[in-house]
Amino acid sequence: MSIYEVIQKRRSIRSYKPGPVEEEKLNRILEAARRAPSAANRQPVCCIVVKDEKIKQQLKKVYSEEWFYTAPVIICVCCIPEKAWRRGDGKNYADIDAAIVMDHLVLAATEESLGTCWIAAFKVPLLKSILNLPSGVEPVAITPLGYPLNIPEPGYRKPLNELVKFI
Ligand SMILES: Cc1cc2nc3c(=O)[nH]c(=O)nc-3n(C[C@H](O)[C@H](O)[C@H](O)COP(=O)(O)O)c2cc1C
Repeated sequence: MSIYEVIQKRRSIRSYKPGPVEEEKLNRILEAARRAPSAANRQPVCCIVVKDEKIKQQLKKVYSEEWFYTAPVIICVCCIPEKAWRRGDGKNYADIDAAIVMDHLVLAATEESLGTCWIAAFKVPLLKSILNLPSGVEPVAITPLGYPLNIPEPGYRKPLNELVKFI
């Protein structure tokens, strides 16, 4: 698929087949995440890949939607703000670097015919404790990863002339 086809095909997938994700596919997806650019190339990011059933069960307290746990793999993308580049006005780019990693991961998964769904509405302290994240490591987003059961229709997007202003 071309990058444009991948972008068109990507959806937030909220139901998964129970089958596993092949290791080669998972490795290619994580390699795509590793290739993400970051401000000043600081790479203040890390990914936790959860396959362990017991940890997945514990995570139900962190994000309670049942569909989330139909996927065989859960990935948590984290940032490390103290390692991130700061702009002159003090703005810390850690979250943005993590979002780019997540987007690489999501698009690579689409190329592999796998589904993902950005989730931000999780309970942060509980997630940190279950994943045993060291101090200074902040979870930014989690996603299930697996084969989609249902692929929804594309969602509404505002027209290009509302998104873009040419000057
Ligand atoms: C930063 C971010 C946070 C999101 N958090 C959630 C979430 O907590 N729960 C959820 O079901 N979807 C979440 N989503 C998915 C959005 O609802 C979804 O991307 C949007 O409705 C557009 O649908 P599409 O991804 O299928 O194009 C999130 C997406 C982004 C980019």
